[in-house]
Amino acid sequence: MRLASSAVAAVLVVVCRAAPQVTIGSTTIVGTQNTGQTEFFGSIPYAEPPVGQLRFAPPVLKADPGVASLDASAYGPSCPVGGSSNPVEDCLTINVLRPVGTASGAGLPVMVWIYGGGFQSGDASGYDGTGFAIAGINRGTPFLYVNLNYRLGVLGFPQGQEATSRGALNLGLKDILTALEWVQQNIAAFGGDPAKVTIFGQSAGSIAVANLFLNSNLESLVRAAIFESGAQSSLPMFPGAHRDQDWQNFVAAVPQCSGASSTDTFDCLRQADITAIVSGQSSASGQAGEQFPWTPVIDGAGGVIPDLPSTLLAAGQFSRLPFISGSNLDEGTQFVSTTLSSDDQLTQFFDNFVNPAGGASAAQQTQIDDLIQLYPDDPSQGSPYGTGSNTFGLGSEYKRAASIAGDIWFHSIRRAWNQAASAQGVPVFAYLFTDPQAAGNPSQGGESCPVLLSYVFGAPGAAPASTLSATMKDYWISFATSLDPNDGKGNDRPQWLQYTSSSQVVMQLQGGNTTIIPDTYRAEQISFINSQPATFNH
Ligand SMILES: *[C@@H]1O[C@H](CO)[C@@H](O)[C@H](O)[C@H]1NC(C)=O
Repeated sequence: MRLASSAVAAVLVVVCRAAPQVTIGSTTIVGTQNTGQTEFFGSIPYAEPPVGQLRFAPPVLKADPGVASLDASAYGPSCPVGGSSNPVEDCLTINVLRPVGTASGAGLPVMVWIYGGGFQSGDASGYDGTGFAIAGINRGTPFLYVNLNYRLGVLGFPQGQEATSRGALNLGLKDILTALEWVQQNIAAFGGDPAKVTIFGQSAGSIAVANLFLNSNLESLVRAAIFESGAQSSLPMFPGAHRDQDWQNFVAAVPQCSGASSTDTFDCLRQADITAIVSGQSSASGQAGEQFPWTPVIDGAGGVIPDLPSTLLAAGQFSRLPFISGSNLDEGTQFVSTTLSSDDQLTQFFDNFVNPAGGASAAQQTQIDDLIQLYPDDPSQGSPYGTGSNTFGLGSEYKRAASIAGDIWFHSIRRAWNQAASAQGVPVFAYLFTDPQAAGNPSQGGESCPVLLSYVFGAPGAAPASTLSATMKDYWISFATSLDPNDGKGNDRPQWLQYTSSSQVVMQLQGGNTTIIPDTYRAEQISFINSQPATFNH
């Protein structure tokens, strides 16, 4: 009888594991065991709600939730995006995933993920790190995976004269910094080591991390970074006041503020309903001459981005943190117009890109013309590369434009950044992701950003290309846990050679042919771009 009842008790223990708990400050955070190997704590506030007087204001750290018990079993709401029907402005939350049973004080390395989405979409819940974290456990290098929401659109990246004079630029970047401060204060309680934090991101997330390398004292918050498709100026970098018209268009589209003085809009906007704010943003985005008008900007002396990033990089003004950085083969395909079919249209497209608010100057036009001449008018040499003369039913200049755009926005800056950092002795590991993807409309695919993500985040062994995916997880996790992608653990994989001034090499990440290659692709074109950084708003 007694034996039987203890057997029942043992079964109950297995079936009904207690929810994991962590105490920070005076709060017990109650998470959930989300798989047999991992447990999750979600929706923990890291900043005061950015509402009321804190709308369009820098974030205020909230080190402790300030309640006795916090239900942390799910993700919090995403930050408002343009036109969303049910926006939730109180969105600044952070999430922690850890190996099951990790003890407070275990001191595991930490990886903090920053999502992309052009600074106008994205949210942490879209980047479940469970498969990635399990890969870390299985290879004997467990780590904590953290991700967070930062403000987007007009709420995260106000533009214009008033935002500049009120010190309200780059708020989304400051949200990320505040979350990193939260990690410094609290991650040990979850079993993480605050001295072993790697920050990584993709696309706009990668741009954000690169911007934090410029003037944010990032060294005090993290020890390494991984950039997936994005560097400091992958989106054109303008002074904060440059997009004043976009801000005025936004204000005009918020009904209760449309009559506000153009130099005093914040007071009214802080009282407007959040639904009116996101709807006004949609309307202003539609009027903007560019796809991504709400982005990081130059915020002057003492700011996060005090000057044009190319100027800062040339002067050696950046964090000396080791990093991995890479691009995908076909970065431009998603972002260029699919209808370009004449030289004039091609020129116009890039003229507009260098100055969406007023067109290129004569000097810029000359440089754009010279650049275009460096790219043959031959679809078989355009992007997506390696697709022969197939134009996919798109404009005849589309593949040429995609090649140029990929180089201006991604490849040139990745190369310039790797060269500048390695020249200062920073450990740099570069990659070029070229795994062939299924044929289809290249404007929606190619070796573009979202594809690479599935290789890093996919569950171990899952499609696509599981060998390459496992290799990439190994490199990423090895680097984050040892500062070297070649830790000898996990799957056998090629040695990833460091990028140095005397040996400028990138790892070609391609299923069946992952190998080190010289960083010399399109050398002439990319050198031209990097010799004229101001023209391209780099
Ligand atoms: C592997 O990649 C290298 C560098 O891109 C290339 O030169 C070589 O032809 C490739 N090998 C195979 C078998 O595809």
